[in-house]
Amino acid sequence: LLAGCLVPAFAMNQPSPVMPAPAALKPAAGRLAVSPAFTVALRGHADARLRDGLARALRRAEERTGITFGRDARGAYAMAAEPAGASLVIECSGPGPEIPDPSQDESYTLEVTPAQAGLRAPTVIGALRGLETLLQLLQADAAGWFVPAVSVQDQPRFPWRGLMIDVCRHWQPMEVIKRNLDGMALVKLNVLHLHLTEDQGFRIESKKYPRLHELGSDGHYFTQDEMREIIAYAAQRGIRVVPEFDIPGHATSWVTAFPELGSAPGPYVIERKWGVFDPVLDPTNEQVYTLLDGFLGEMAALFPDPYLHIGGDENNGKHWSANARIQAFIREKNLKDNAGLHAYFNNRVHAILAKYGKKLIGWDEILHPDLPVGSVVHSWRGPEGIADATQRGFATVLSNGYYIDLMQPAEQHYLNDPIPPGTKLTPAQQKLVLGGEATMWAEWVSPETIDSRIWPRTAAIAERLWSPQDVRDVPDMYRRLERVSQRLEEAGLRQKSYLDPALRRLAGDQATADDLRALRQFADLVEPVKGYKRGGQQRGATQFMPLTGLVDCARADSAPSRQLAADLKLFLSAPPDASAAQRVAAQLSDWHATAVHLLERLPALSPQLAEAKPLLEALAAAAEAGANLVTLRRKGQEPTAADTAAARAAFARLGEAHAAVEFPAAHTLASLVGPQP
Ligand code: ACM
Repeated sequence: LLAGCLVPAFAMNQPSPVMPAPAALKPAAGRLAVSPAFTVALRGHADARLRDGLARALRRAEERTGITFGRDARGAYAMAAEPAGASLVIECSGPGPEIPDPSQDESYTLEVTPAQAGLRAPTVIGALRGLETLLQLLQADAAGWFVPAVSVQDQPRFPWRGLMIDVCRHWQPMEVIKRNLDGMALVKLNVLHLHLTEDQGFRIESKKYPRLHELGSDGHYFTQDEMREIIAYAAQRGIRVVPEFDIPGHATSWVTAFPELGSAPGPYVIERKWGVFDPVLDPTNEQVYTLLDGFLGEMAALFPDPYLHIGGDENNGKHWSANARIQAFIREKNLKDNAGLHAYFNNRVHAILAKYGKKLIGWDEILHPDLPVGSVVHSWRGPEGIADATQRGFATVLSNGYYIDLMQPAEQHYLNDPIPPGTKLTPAQQKLVLGGEATMWAEWVSPETIDSRIWPRTAAIAERLWSPQDVRDVPDMYRRLERVSQRLEEAGLRQKSYLDPALRRLAGDQATADDLRALRQFADLVEPVKGYKRGGQQRGATQFMPLTGLVDCARADSAPSRQLAADLKLFLSAPPDASAAQRVAAQLSDWHATAVHLLERLPALSPQLAEAKPLLEALAAAAEAGANLVTLRRKGQEPTAADTAAARAAFARLGEAHAAVEFPAAHTLASLVGPQP
């Protein structure tokens, strides 16, 4: 009895950990204990997708809690005979589409009382979404594992919530795709967009035109059997797979196999560098449409999704302009210019897709007065893309602002809303906004590092696309992001766990435990340079360059740098916060010690780490100058003009990128001295 009194009578005294935040979540009194006696009952519609999804959820709960739930004689989770006695009752009205589609109902309700959790959904897909919420609510305290009593009513804001993975610039094999599908399911994303053809690689098997993958891929491509496995794995999780075949530009790998289909004489070889390249299919050549009919027909049969993405981006038109025959074709057909020729090409491709029952989606550049009605414009180039497309009556998917390869903080993506508060879009235009996609372009990612570029920031984008518009509290997002990042790791992603082995390799065999601790701290302080700056920092990089340097161990959204920014703000406010001052001083002194330690040890460590030297020198000097200013300020003393000038110079030096990494703290520290007078 006494022990029972120690169990808190309420549980949702903690803020909700759930991400994406449900449409409505009301805490209630009490908690549902999770113990070895936890049982589930299924009512209404039940099928293999639901049972398999439930088994995966229960296994994740077991792994997290260390509890073994009951099994039947065949080793399957034992189901409660009677709903009345079950810990969790799942009641589905129907299966939902076997092949997920944009109209699928993903809604659910979840009622948790101290006696039972009830999950109700119109479709199995909604129930799977609800199971993810239930797993995120699972937590522990001194009294044990439990789910807090709560009432959730939930559905997505947008039907198209995607992650695009470029498997071309750097090949990303099956296990990368599968674990990222698990991550997508965890944060309720529902579209995997696979960018399958590029200048640098042709990554899907064609049985009709095997030269495409044989000559265009270095042997790294998905077989059609593997792709069917990916599609089935995704469908099990209520996730669509939208394939992209980027045409007519970004086509070097196509013309490597079939040079006669290019707009310049060739020959061509697979591109190994990054950028926008000239090779482009020749829209005046009927053989191009013969090949596309065959290939796209084959792909339309392989990929069950109603949409097929044709790329269409960054066609620089150089080879079209240089080809007199192509220019004559433009004049003969009254196509006006290269843009008109591109629109002609898109119309031909649209007719092929229509024949095979597919809808066309393509990047911004397909928008043209001649774009066929019903096409979808995938907006990437600027914030005006959505307005431009919807004004002309086209549905649209937003990726501008969701370019996770550009290494921006989660906050920026999070506040980027397809339909922001105060939008100028008319209600009719708003209806055409299907949702958005995070884009993982793969110039600078390997299978080892890719999770750390996708996660956890993509969870913030997932929330933007699922949760109500007014869910935009940035500190609360970061609080939940760290939690969900841990859940993602438990589900098999490696955005945290790739790092220590990578740092050990970077440090070399002579590294001690102290060296590795210091290096880890240093890596957590730097971030990869933003935007497209990495190419400028690492000139001459190719597809063959190993992605195992310092920048590959750096991640966006440096947590200690954000902590310093928060503490420094408190310290510099009036009245200054004494404990924040203490933390700033401690942090700067710690950073200084780390930099000094690593500088001393560099000669004994791997030669690859030598690129860190200027960064460590800048960190040592800036941390020392910052600590000096903080000390003076805490004593109420003014720094001398010389101290201020030296500090300003040290912070400016810290702000210089090197080896493709930068210190976000440089900007923060500059607030200690103010702007250059
Ligand atoms: C793109 O980023 N070129 C669509």
